Amino acid sequence: MSILELKNVHAGYGSAQSRTEVLKGIDLRVEDGELLAVLGFSGTGKTTLISLLAGLKAPDKGEVFFKDAPVTGPGPERGVAFQSYALMPWLTVEDNIGLAVGAVHAKASRAERKALTEKYMGMVGLTHARDRRPAELSGGMRQRVSVARALAMQPEVLLLDEPLSALDALTRAKLQDEFAEIRAETDATMVLITNDVDEAIFLADRIVPLNPDGTLGPDYRVALPRPRNRVALNHDETYHRLRGDITKYLMEAGEMRKARVTVASFCRMWCRSSPSKHRQTRRCRRPT
Ligand SMILES: Nc1ncnc2c1ncn2[C@@H]1O[C@H](COP(=O)(O)OP(=O)(O)O)[C@@H](O)[C@H]1O
Ligand SMILES: [Mg+2]
Repeated sequence: MSILELKNVHAGYGSAQSRTEVLKGIDLRVEDGELLAVLGFSGTGKTTLISLLAGLKAPDKGEVFFKDAPVTGPGPERGVAFQSYALMPWLTVEDNIGLAVGAVHAKASRAERKALTEKYMGMVGLTHARDRRPAELSGGMRQRVSVARALAMQPEVLLLDEPLSALDALTRAKLQDEFAEIRAETDATMVLITNDVDEAIFLADRIVPLNPDGTLGPDYRVALPRPRNRVALNHDETYHRLRGDITKYLMEAGEMRKARVTVASFCRMWCRSSPSKHRQTRRCRRPT
C-alpha cells in the first residue's frame, strides 16, 4: 500500500513576472514501511518536495495524498526534520525533545512522556548531554536533537531533509550507522533527502533522483541485504554497479542543465543586440 502519494504535482514560487517553477509533474508513491531516498543537486527542489509531503506548502497543480486522503496541512502522522531545524535555544536537550513529545502526546501522563523523551534521547546517543543547551552542542549533536524530536513524535512517516549534510565526514558516517539502527528499531516509513549517493545506497530501499529540470528520474532499487556494512559494501558488486549507474545518471542530468544554461545566456546576448531579428531565428530560446 502506498502511504504517501504525489499525483502530477507542480510547485513553484512567486507570481507572474518573478515566477520560478521548481517541480514539474511529479508522480511519486511512497510505500508503507520503505525508506525512500530522494537524491539531487542543490537547488533542484528537494526541500520544496519535503514541504509538500509535510503539508507545509500546497502544490500549484496536482495533489498530495496521505493514505489516500488529500493532505491539506501538517499533521502529527508526518514528522519532519529540516536541515536548519530551529531548536529552542533556552531549552536543554531533554526539554527540546520533551517539547515535541508534549505537543503530540498531550494526553499521556507525565511519566509516559518522560519515558518517551528518555527513549528517543537514548536512541540518538544524547543521554549524557541532556542538560546542555543548543549553544553548547556541536553541529552533529544539534542534528541529533532535531532527529530525536521528529522520532519522538512517533510519526507514521519521517520526512528527513538532508539531516546529515552539514556534518563532517566522520560524524556523518557515525550518524548514518545510527540511522540504520534506528531504521531497524522503528517501523516508520522514511523519506530521506540527500545529496550523497553513498548515503542513499547505505540507507535506502529505493532511490529516486530529482532532475535539475524539476522532474523525477527513474527508480533505483537497492537490493542489498541489511544490516549493511560499509567495508563489506566496498567489495560488493551490486553496490558498485548501482553506484556507477546512479552517478552516471546524475552526471548526465547535470550536464544537460549546464548545456541549457549556456544556450539561454547566448540567447540573452543575441536578443539584446538585435531583439526583433533574433526572435525570428530558430536559435532564439526566449519564450514568446
Ligand atoms: N520561499 C522561496 N521563495 C522563492 N524561491 C524559493 C523559495 N524556496 C526555494 N526557492 C527556490 O526554489 C528552488 C528550489 O529550492 P529548494 O526546494 O530549497 O531546493 P533544494 O532543497 O534541492 O536545494 C531554488 O531555485 C530556490 O531558490
Ligand atoms: Mg534543501
